[in-house]
Amino acid sequence: EKGGWSSFMAKEVAEQPEAVANTIRGRIQGDQVVIPELDGLDELFLGINRIIITACGTAAYSALVGKYAIEQWARIPVDVELAHEFRYRDPVIGDDTLVVSISQSGETMDTLMAVKYASERGARTLSICNTQGATIPRESDAVVYTHAGPEVAVASTKAFSAQITALLLLGLHMGRVRGSVADASADVAELAALPEKIAKVLESEQEHVTQLAGWMADTRSVLFLGRHVGFPIALEGALKLKEISYIHAEGFAAGELKHGPIALIEPGQPVFVLVPSPRHSAVVHSKVVSNIQEIRARGARVIVVAEEGDAAVLPFADEVIRIPLAGAMFEPLLAVVPLQIFAMALATAKGLDVDQPRNLAKSVTVE
Ligand code: F6R
Repeated sequence: EKGGWSSFMAKEVAEQPEAVANTIRGRIQGDQVVIPELDGLDELFLGINRIIITACGTAAYSALVGKYAIEQWARIPVDVELAHEFRYRDPVIGDDTLVVSISQSGETMDTLMAVKYASERGARTLSICNTQGATIPRESDAVVYTHAGPEVAVASTKAFSAQITALLLLGLHMGRVRGSVADASADVAELAALPEKIAKVLESEQEHVTQLAGWMADTRSVLFLGRHVGFPIALEGALKLKEISYIHAEGFAAGELKHGPIALIEPGQPVFVLVPSPRHSAVVHSKVVSNIQEIRARGARVIVVAEEGDAAVLPFADEVIRIPLAGAMFEPLLAVVPLQIFAMALATAKGLDVDQPRNLAKSVTVE
């Protein structure tokens, strides 16, 4: 039931603090992350030397955030591969490989076939899934459920946040088992603080971003730039816009600009730029600020998503969307929220059905 909401998507965007809190619940013990479902897999986590995360669409973008987090914390090389690509080539996998699949529905045929393929080739499989008892978790050796609750709108929002949360938990869990995270207390505190920070973004930016989308209802193309874990969020922001507002949108790694995409910038082109906190890396931050200057000099209309207090972006931004301070791996969960609101508000401004976009199904059960 939609309750008082204008759409399921609006309801599900608003439910993100709860979705993230429910996914974390029961998985923190003291100042450590312990996922009870993975009890007994310590030997596996110690024995593997490679992880492949496989998924489609939004779930594959959560996987890209997971790559950064798992490599950082568990010190295992991680590749992310679209399920429909992984399955139709001859990947180098074996019993030293853990194949992690991510699926909200647990029924996506491409992802299911990738999991079966991995098992046949001797890899161990773990699924991250939002639907209890679905086919993909049943076909996997282990499962970590996201507890986002049922997602009805075709465009994935709260499931995406819960997927990233589960990947962060998995990274910290494996990091503890492998001894590569000695002290997780700061990260555990970041996790615990997430729901409230997401709620804060929803509260403080909903009106601003909705207004912005209203002004931009005639826009024909929007670009998104990010670096580090902001890169997958740029991809996700673009996908949301394509899906529900039928606008041409593309996400880029900001560092790629000068290798091609900057040629797209002409006066008036709207560009969202996800600015990482200068507290995480002064260098990465300043690189993004110079990217903003480069596109601004060519007439782009720059909409910046930056942490509270980051004044370096002010001289070059047409609009500034603020998110609370958070650790590097946790920022994506805050930065994605205004992009979801933007896509939803733009679709609404165009008079489109945000829950049932054309040509799309909630669960893609054909290959
Ligand atoms: C985007 C979206 C799709 C799904 C993809 C995978 O908003 O909903 O890109 O993320 O079809 O679906 P699941 O997670 O059910 O495997």
